Amino acid sequence: MSKSTASLPGGTWVLGDLTVTRFGYGAMQLAGPGVMGPPADHDGALAVLREAADLGITHIDTSDAYGPRVTNQLIRQALRPYPESLHIVTKVGATRDQQGGWPPARDPESLRRSVNENLENLGLEVLDTVNLRLGDAQGPQPGSLAEPLETLVALQQQGLIRHLGVSNVTAEQVAEARAIAPIVCVQNMYNLAYRHDDKLIDELAEQGIAYVPFFPLGGFSPLQSSALSAVASRLDATPMSVALAWLLQRSPNILLIPGTSSVAHLRENVAGAGLSLSHEDVAELDKIGH
Ligand SMILES: NC(=O)c1ccc[n+]([C@@H]2O[C@H](COP(=O)([O-])OP(=O)(O)OC[C@H]3O[C@@H](n4cnc5c(N)ncnc54)[C@H](OP(=O)(O)O)[C@@H]3O)[C@@H](O)[C@H]2O)c1
Repeated sequence: MSKSTASLPGGTWVLGDLTVTRFGYGAMQLAGPGVMGPPADHDGALAVLREAADLGITHIDTSDAYGPRVTNQLIRQALRPYPESLHIVTKVGATRDQQGGWPPARDPESLRRSVNENLENLGLEVLDTVNLRLGDAQGPQPGSLAEPLETLVALQQQGLIRHLGVSNVTAEQVAEARAIAPIVCVQNMYNLAYRHDDKLIDELAEQGIAYVPFFPLGGFSPLQSSALSAVASRLDATPMSVALAWLLQRSPNILLIPGTSSVAHLRENVAGAGLSLSHEDVAELDKIGH
């Protein structure tokens, strides 16, 4: 039986018209090494997803590029029929090549195909939220997003997408997107040690738009810092718990999607993110990213 979402740290946020727990789950780590192919432990991956739902998490972040297809098919197998309260956020705009790279796929035909493949692999008739992912592995790159976003707006008007977001974008691209269509979330790289978007987060908070940091724990190279370890040991907590608690306290519009392939880590992260950080703790942690 699912625990109440009220027991999750951070409470809830309304994404467009969808209520989600601020503590979500990022599914990318469920695919095989290099986010390619199936997981070594298929049943273990299903168990992580089911545990996320049992803990009351109602926001799962994914992409059909993870695997490719693998992560979406695992979500479908583990959780369908989906609880009404569960909202899956996916992203389009990149595909995978033979070497495991992430080449862009933003022409109208690729975007239409990707939306349809997400629907099929997730087993849905409508995608709750679709992020248009721009930039590259180095981060956001300047340039107009009008053409790909307008393609997604057309798919939204056809009833295939409920809400739109953008990912791996500059502040200018967020502004351009908002002039084209309502945007419910921005998903960019951000964590205790990487704070390029501080100003953008505050602006989005004023506009009621969610900011969803990817790599909240540092991604493929988990966060390591002597200041983080010092605060964690003073609070008798893990560095990961402190990093997540810091994000939840940073701004009310921040939604967490930490990734893990481990039920134990998932439980630890949920239990730890509710840690209350004092002004002194936050001041010490703020020095890491400045
Ligand atoms: N829009 C984009 O371009 C983009 C890019 C990257 C990611 N994303 C999204 O962001 C989500 C989060 O990113 P991420 O998963 O790459 O990075 P992350 O959440 O920053 O970190 C995940 C890593 O931390 C480890 N970890 C998690 N909890 C831990 C704990 N309690 N103790 C020790 N290690 C722990 C995981 O290993 P274990 O598996 O061993 O727990 C994994 O290696 C992804 O799932 C994906 O949905 C989006």
